[in-house]
Amino acid sequence: MSQDNSRADFTITKVGVIGAGQMGSGIAQVCAQAGYDVLLQDLADEQLDKALAGIEKHLDRQVKKDRLSEADKQAALKQISKAASVPELGDCDLVIEAATENEEVKRGIFHELCEHLKDNAIICTNTSSISVTRLASTTDRPGRFMGMHFMNPVPVMQLVELIRGIATDEDTFATIRQLTEQLGKTPVAAEDFPAFIVNRILLPMINEAVYTLYEGVGSVEAIDTAMKLGANHPMGPLELADFIGLDTCLAVMHVLYDGLADSKYRPCPLLVKYVEAGWVGRKAGRGFYDYSGDKPVPTR
Ligand SMILES: NC(=O)c1ccc[n+]([C@@H]2O[C@H](COP(=O)([O-])OP(=O)(O)OC[C@H]3O[C@@H](n4cnc5c(N)ncnc54)[C@H](O)[C@@H]3O)[C@@H](O)[C@H]2O)c1
Repeated sequence: MSQDNSRADFTITKVGVIGAGQMGSGIAQVCAQAGYDVLLQDLADEQLDKALAGIEKHLDRQVKKDRLSEADKQAALKQISKAASVPELGDCDLVIEAATENEEVKRGIFHELCEHLKDNAIICTNTSSISVTRLASTTDRPGRFMGMHFMNPVPVMQLVELIRGIATDEDTFATIRQLTEQLGKTPVAAEDFPAFIVNRILLPMINEAVYTLYEGVGSVEAIDTAMKLGANHPMGPLELADFIGLDTCLAVMHVLYDGLADSKYRPCPLLVKYVEAGWVGRKAGRGFYDYSGDKPVPTR
Protein backbone atom coordinates (compact mmCIF):
# COMPACT_ATOMS: atom_id res chain seq x y z
CA MET A 1 0.00 0.00 0.00
CA SER A 2 1.18 3.49 -0.67
CA GLN A 3 -0.61 6.77 -0.27
CA ASP A 4 -0.26 9.81 -2.51
CA ASN A 5 -0.63 13.20 -1.01
CA SER A 6 0.01 16.83 -1.73
CA ARG A 7 3.80 16.53 -1.33
CA ALA A 8 4.83 14.97 -4.60
CA ASP A 9 7.94 13.45 -3.04
CA PHE A 10 6.17 11.86 -0.09
CA THR A 11 4.16 8.65 0.15
CA ILE A 12 3.32 6.60 3.19
CA THR A 13 4.17 2.92 2.82
CA LYS A 14 5.77 2.05 6.13
CA VAL A 15 4.11 2.82 9.47
CA GLY A 16 5.84 2.47 12.83
CA VAL A 17 3.72 1.99 15.95
CA ILE A 18 5.30 2.61 19.35
CA GLY A 19 3.59 0.90 22.29
CA ALA A 20 1.98 -2.49 21.73
CA GLY A 21 -0.73 -2.26 24.40
CA GLN A 22 -4.43 -2.36 23.67
CA MET A 23 -4.31 0.72 21.42
CA GLY A 24 -0.97 0.12 19.65
CA SER A 25 -1.91 -3.44 18.74
CA GLY A 26 -5.26 -2.28 17.34
CA ILE A 27 -3.60 0.51 15.35
CA ALA A 28 -1.03 -1.96 13.97
CA GLN A 29 -3.86 -4.29 12.97
CA VAL A 30 -5.94 -1.71 11.08
CA CYS A 31 -2.86 -0.33 9.31
CA ALA A 32 -1.82 -3.86 8.28
CA GLN A 33 -5.34 -4.67 7.08
CA ALA A 34 -5.24 -1.53 4.94
CA GLY A 35 -2.04 -2.86 3.35
CA TYR A 36 0.63 -0.74 5.04
CA ASP A 37 3.91 -2.28 6.18
CA VAL A 38 3.85 -2.07 9.96
CA LEU A 39 6.71 -2.13 12.46
CA LEU A 40 5.43 -2.57 16.01
CA GLN A 41 7.70 -1.63 18.92
CA ASP A 42 7.36 -1.86 22.70
CA LEU A 43 9.68 -1.72 25.70
CA ALA A 44 8.69 -5.24 26.59
CA ASP A 45 9.27 -8.09 24.12
CA GLU A 46 6.58 -10.21 25.80
CA GLN A 47 4.11 -7.36 25.19
CA LEU A 48 4.92 -7.56 21.48
CA ASP A 49 4.25 -11.30 21.44
CA LYS A 50 1.02 -10.74 23.36
CA ALA A 51 -0.02 -8.03 20.87
CA LEU A 52 0.68 -10.24 17.84
CA ALA A 53 -1.21 -13.15 19.41
CA GLY A 54 -4.11 -10.79 20.17
CA ILE A 55 -4.20 -9.51 16.59
CA GLU A 56 -4.22 -13.06 15.24
CA LYS A 57 -7.03 -14.01 17.60
CA HIS A 58 -9.06 -10.99 16.55
CA LEU A 59 -8.56 -11.76 12.86
CA ASP A 60 -9.45 -15.43 13.47
CA ARG A 61 -12.77 -14.33 14.93
CA GLN A 62 -13.39 -12.23 11.80
CA VAL A 63 -12.67 -15.27 9.62
CA LYS A 64 -15.05 -17.43 11.68
CA LYS A 65 -17.78 -14.82 11.25
CA ASP A 66 -17.13 -14.79 7.46
CA ARG A 67 -16.16 -11.13 7.58
CA LEU A 68 -12.60 -11.83 6.42
CA SER A 69 -11.03 -14.49 4.20
CA GLU A 70 -8.23 -16.70 5.49
CA ALA A 71 -6.01 -15.26 2.72
CA ASP A 72 -6.69 -11.67 3.86
CA LYS A 73 -5.96 -12.68 7.45
CA GLN A 74 -2.61 -14.18 6.43
CA ALA A 75 -1.83 -11.13 4.28
CA ALA A 76 -2.52 -8.76 7.20
CA LEU A 77 -0.37 -10.78 9.61
CA LYS A 78 2.49 -10.77 7.10
CA GLN A 79 2.41 -6.95 7.01
CA ILE A 80 3.37 -6.66 10.71
CA SER A 81 6.92 -7.07 12.02
CA LYS A 82 8.31 -6.64 15.52
CA ALA A 83 10.88 -3.91 16.17
CA ALA A 84 13.18 -4.42 19.12
CA SER A 85 14.02 -0.74 19.55
CA VAL A 86 12.97 2.78 18.51
CA PRO A 87 15.98 3.31 16.14
CA GLU A 88 14.64 0.45 13.99
CA LEU A 89 11.75 2.74 13.03
CA GLY A 90 14.15 5.20 11.36
CA ASP A 91 12.94 4.64 7.79
CA CYS A 92 9.21 4.72 8.55
CA ASP A 93 7.14 7.34 6.70
CA LEU A 94 4.77 7.69 9.61
CA VAL A 95 5.23 6.79 13.28
CA ILE A 96 2.18 6.58 15.53
CA GLU A 97 3.05 6.77 19.23
CA ALA A 98 0.64 4.78 21.44
CA ALA A 99 2.69 4.31 24.59
CA THR A 100 1.54 4.83 28.18
CA GLU A 101 -0.35 8.08 28.87
CA ASN A 102 2.55 9.81 30.61
CA GLU A 103 4.13 12.96 29.25
CA GLU A 104 7.66 12.09 30.38
CA VAL A 105 7.42 8.67 28.71
CA LYS A 106 6.20 10.23 25.46
CA ARG A 107 8.87 12.96 25.53
CA GLY A 108 11.56 10.31 25.99
CA ILE A 109 10.22 8.35 23.04
CA PHE A 110 10.11 11.40 20.74
CA HIS A 111 13.60 12.45 21.77
CA GLU A 112 15.03 9.06 20.81
CA LEU A 113 12.84 8.72 17.72
CA CYS A 114 13.85 12.08 16.23
CA GLU A 115 17.52 11.13 16.41
CA HIS A 116 16.86 8.28 13.99
CA LEU A 117 13.74 9.12 11.98
CA LYS A 118 14.11 10.34 8.40
CA ASP A 119 13.48 14.06 7.95
CA ASN A 120 10.23 14.04 6.02
CA ALA A 121 8.46 11.42 8.15
CA ILE A 122 5.32 12.39 10.06
CA ILE A 123 4.86 11.66 13.77
CA CYS A 124 1.40 11.23 15.30
CA THR A 125 0.53 10.75 18.93
CA ASN A 126 -2.47 8.73 20.09
CA THR A 127 -2.54 10.62 23.39
CA SER A 128 -5.99 10.80 24.98
CA SER A 129 -5.45 14.18 26.54
CA ILE A 130 -1.93 15.65 26.55
CA SER A 131 -1.29 18.89 24.63
CA VAL A 132 -0.29 18.02 21.06
CA THR A 133 1.42 21.41 20.76
CA ARG A 134 3.58 20.71 23.84
CA LEU A 135 4.47 17.21 22.66
CA ALA A 136 5.26 18.59 19.18
CA SER A 137 7.66 21.11 20.68
CA THR A 138 9.79 18.28 22.06
CA THR A 139 10.40 17.01 18.51
CA ASP A 140 12.54 18.33 15.67
CA ARG A 141 9.44 18.63 13.39
CA PRO A 142 6.43 20.40 14.99
CA GLY A 143 5.05 21.03 11.47
CA ARG A 144 4.94 17.30 10.75
CA PHE A 145 3.47 16.32 14.10
CA MET A 146 -0.19 15.97 15.11
CA GLY A 147 -2.66 14.01 17.21
CA MET A 148 -4.34 10.94 15.79
CA HIS A 149 -6.68 9.78 18.52
CA PHE A 150 -8.08 6.33 17.81
CA MET A 151 -10.91 4.89 19.90
CA ASN A 152 -10.87 1.58 21.77
CA PRO A 153 -11.16 -1.11 20.42
CA VAL A 154 -9.46 0.29 17.34
CA PRO A 155 -10.58 -2.34 14.79
CA VAL A 156 -14.22 -1.82 15.79
CA MET A 157 -14.59 1.89 16.51
CA GLN A 158 -15.30 4.17 13.59
CA LEU A 159 -13.96 7.50 14.88
CA VAL A 160 -10.46 8.99 14.79
CA GLU A 161 -10.08 12.49 16.27
CA LEU A 162 -7.46 14.48 14.37
CA ILE A 163 -5.78 17.16 16.43
CA ARG A 164 -3.69 19.97 15.01
CA GLY A 165 -0.95 21.37 17.19
CA ILE A 166 -0.42 25.09 16.72
CA ALA A 167 2.49 24.36 14.37
CA THR A 168 1.01 21.42 12.41
CA ASP A 169 1.18 22.22 8.70
CA GLU A 170 -1.75 21.74 6.34
CA ASP A 171 0.08 19.12 4.24
CA THR A 172 0.51 16.96 7.31
CA PHE A 173 -3.11 17.35 8.35
CA ALA A 174 -4.38 16.54 4.83
CA THR A 175 -2.09 13.51 4.58
CA ILE A 176 -3.26 12.07 7.89
CA ARG A 177 -6.90 12.79 7.11
CA GLN A 178 -6.52 10.85 3.85
CA LEU A 179 -4.75 7.97 5.61
CA THR A 180 -7.49 7.84 8.26
CA GLU A 181 -10.07 7.42 5.51
CA GLN A 182 -7.96 4.71 3.87
CA LEU A 183 -8.06 2.85 7.19
CA GLY A 184 -11.86 2.87 6.82
CA LYS A 185 -12.31 5.33 9.69
CA THR A 186 -14.17 8.62 9.98
CA PRO A 187 -11.97 11.57 10.96
CA VAL A 188 -13.25 14.46 13.08
CA ALA A 189 -11.09 17.54 13.61
CA ALA A 190 -10.62 18.66 17.20
CA GLU A 191 -8.73 21.66 18.50
CA ASP A 192 -5.80 21.18 20.83
CA PHE A 193 -7.56 21.63 24.19
CA PRO A 194 -7.11 19.19 27.10
CA ALA A 195 -8.70 15.81 26.24
CA PHE A 196 -10.03 17.11 22.88
CA ILE A 197 -13.72 16.30 22.22
CA VAL A 198 -14.58 12.72 23.16
CA ASN A 199 -12.64 12.48 26.43
CA ARG A 200 -13.52 16.04 27.49
CA ILE A 201 -17.11 14.83 27.61
CA LEU A 202 -16.71 11.12 28.41
CA LEU A 203 -14.12 11.12 31.21
CA PRO A 204 -15.89 13.59 33.53
CA MET A 205 -18.95 11.33 33.19
CA ILE A 206 -16.89 8.28 34.15
CA ASN A 207 -15.28 10.19 37.03
CA GLU A 208 -18.76 11.20 38.22
CA ALA A 209 -19.83 7.54 38.08
CA VAL A 210 -16.87 6.70 40.37
CA TYR A 211 -17.96 9.50 42.77
CA THR A 212 -21.45 8.01 42.70
CA LEU A 213 -19.95 4.69 43.77
CA TYR A 214 -17.62 6.36 46.31
CA GLU A 215 -20.48 8.22 47.96
CA GLY A 216 -22.59 5.06 48.13
CA VAL A 217 -25.35 6.30 45.85
CA GLY A 218 -25.35 2.94 44.09
CA SER A 219 -23.40 -0.30 43.70
CA VAL A 220 -21.21 -1.02 40.66
CA GLU A 221 -24.03 -3.06 39.19
CA ALA A 222 -26.70 -0.45 39.97
CA ILE A 223 -24.68 2.38 38.40
CA ASP A 224 -23.90 0.45 35.22
CA THR A 225 -27.44 -0.90 34.87
CA ALA A 226 -28.89 2.56 35.49
CA MET A 227 -26.83 4.14 32.72
CA LYS A 228 -27.40 1.27 30.27
CA LEU A 229 -31.16 1.16 30.73
CA GLY A 230 -31.76 4.76 31.75
CA ALA A 231 -29.54 6.59 29.30
CA ASN A 232 -29.34 3.89 26.62
CA HIS A 233 -25.53 3.63 26.89
CA PRO A 234 -24.20 0.38 25.36
CA MET A 235 -21.81 -0.09 28.32
CA GLY A 236 -22.09 1.13 31.91
CA PRO A 237 -19.58 3.88 32.86
CA LEU A 238 -17.67 1.65 35.32
CA GLU A 239 -17.51 -1.22 32.85
CA LEU A 240 -16.26 1.28 30.29
CA ALA A 241 -13.67 2.67 32.74
CA ASP A 242 -12.31 -0.87 33.25
CA PHE A 243 -12.20 -1.30 29.49
CA ILE A 244 -10.31 1.96 28.90
CA GLY A 245 -7.93 1.28 31.82
CA LEU A 246 -8.28 3.12 35.14
CA ASP A 247 -4.71 4.40 34.87
CA THR A 248 -5.57 6.06 31.56
CA CYS A 249 -8.84 7.45 33.01
CA LEU A 250 -6.94 8.95 35.95
CA ALA A 251 -4.24 10.39 33.69
CA VAL A 252 -6.89 12.10 31.55
CA MET A 253 -8.62 13.55 34.63
CA HIS A 254 -5.28 14.96 35.82
CA VAL A 255 -4.75 16.59 32.43
CA LEU A 256 -8.26 18.12 32.53
CA TYR A 257 -7.81 19.26 36.14
CA ASP A 258 -4.40 20.81 35.53
CA GLY A 259 -5.09 22.08 32.02
CA LEU A 260 -8.45 23.73 32.65
CA ALA A 261 -7.83 24.68 36.31
CA ASP A 262 -11.41 23.90 37.28
CA SER A 263 -12.26 21.89 40.41
CA LYS A 264 -15.08 20.10 38.59
CA TYR A 265 -12.40 17.87 37.05
CA ARG A 266 -10.97 16.69 40.42
CA PRO A 267 -10.24 12.95 40.07
CA CYS A 268 -12.37 10.87 42.45
CA PRO A 269 -10.25 9.58 45.39
CA LEU A 270 -11.63 6.08 44.79
CA LEU A 271 -10.30 6.14 41.23
CA VAL A 272 -6.90 7.17 42.62
CA LYS A 273 -7.01 4.29 45.17
CA TYR A 274 -7.86 1.68 42.56
CA VAL A 275 -4.94 2.81 40.41
CA GLU A 276 -2.61 2.82 43.46
CA ALA A 277 -3.71 -0.76 44.17
CA GLY A 278 -2.87 -1.79 40.60
CA TRP A 279 -6.58 -2.53 39.99
CA VAL A 280 -6.49 -0.75 36.65
CA GLY A 281 -9.26 -2.67 34.90
CA ARG A 282 -9.60 -5.48 32.42
CA LYS A 283 -5.93 -5.47 31.36
CA ALA A 284 -4.93 -6.16 35.00
CA GLY A 285 -7.71 -8.71 35.62
CA ARG A 286 -9.34 -6.42 38.17
CA GLY A 287 -10.87 -2.95 38.29
CA PHE A 288 -14.45 -2.15 39.27
CA TYR A 289 -15.09 -5.75 38.19
CA ASP A 290 -13.05 -8.89 38.88
CA TYR A 291 -12.23 -10.67 35.61
CA SER A 292 -10.64 -13.82 37.03
CA GLY A 293 -13.74 -16.03 36.56
CA ASP A 294 -15.95 -16.88 33.61
CA LYS A 295 -17.78 -13.59 33.78
CA PRO A 296 -16.97 -10.23 35.37
CA VAL A 297 -18.02 -9.89 39.02
CA PRO A 298 -18.59 -6.41 40.56
CA THR A 299 -16.11 -5.62 43.34
CA ARG A 300 -18.47 -3.27 45.27
N1 LIG B 1 -7.29 2.75 26.43
C1 LIG B 1 -8.05 3.54 25.71
O1 LIG B 1 -9.29 3.40 25.69
C2 LIG B 1 -7.42 4.61 24.85
C3 LIG B 1 -8.17 5.21 23.84
C4 LIG B 1 -7.57 6.18 23.02
C5 LIG B 1 -6.25 6.54 23.26
N2 LIG B 1 -5.54 5.95 24.27
C6 LIG B 1 -4.16 6.36 24.46
O2 LIG B 1 -3.32 5.40 23.84
C7 LIG B 1 -2.08 5.31 24.54
C8 LIG B 1 -1.84 3.88 24.97
O3 LIG B 1 -2.92 3.44 25.76
P1 LIG B 1 -3.23 1.90 25.98
O4 LIG B 1 -4.62 1.82 26.52
O5 LIG B 1 -2.85 1.11 24.78
O6 LIG B 1 -2.20 1.57 27.17
P2 LIG B 1 -1.54 0.15 27.53
O7 LIG B 1 -1.14 0.26 28.95
O8 LIG B 1 -2.43 -0.98 27.11
O9 LIG B 1 -0.25 0.10 26.57
C9 LIG B 1 0.82 0.99 26.66
C10 LIG B 1 2.04 0.28 26.11
O10 LIG B 1 3.11 1.23 26.01
C11 LIG B 1 4.31 0.53 26.30
N3 LIG B 1 5.35 1.49 26.63
C12 LIG B 1 5.49 2.23 27.76
N4 LIG B 1 6.61 2.99 27.69
C13 LIG B 1 7.15 2.74 26.47
C14 LIG B 1 8.32 3.20 25.80
N5 LIG B 1 9.15 4.09 26.38
N6 LIG B 1 8.60 2.73 24.57
C15 LIG B 1 7.78 1.82 23.98
N7 LIG B 1 6.67 1.34 24.57
C16 LIG B 1 6.36 1.79 25.80
C17 LIG B 1 3.93 -0.40 27.44
O11 LIG B 1 4.87 -1.45 27.59
C18 LIG B 1 2.55 -0.88 27.00
O12 LIG B 1 2.62 -2.06 26.24
C19 LIG B 1 -2.18 6.31 25.69
O13 LIG B 1 -1.64 7.53 25.30
C20 LIG B 1 -3.68 6.42 25.90
O14 LIG B 1 -4.07 7.62 26.51
C21 LIG B 1 -6.10 4.98 25.06
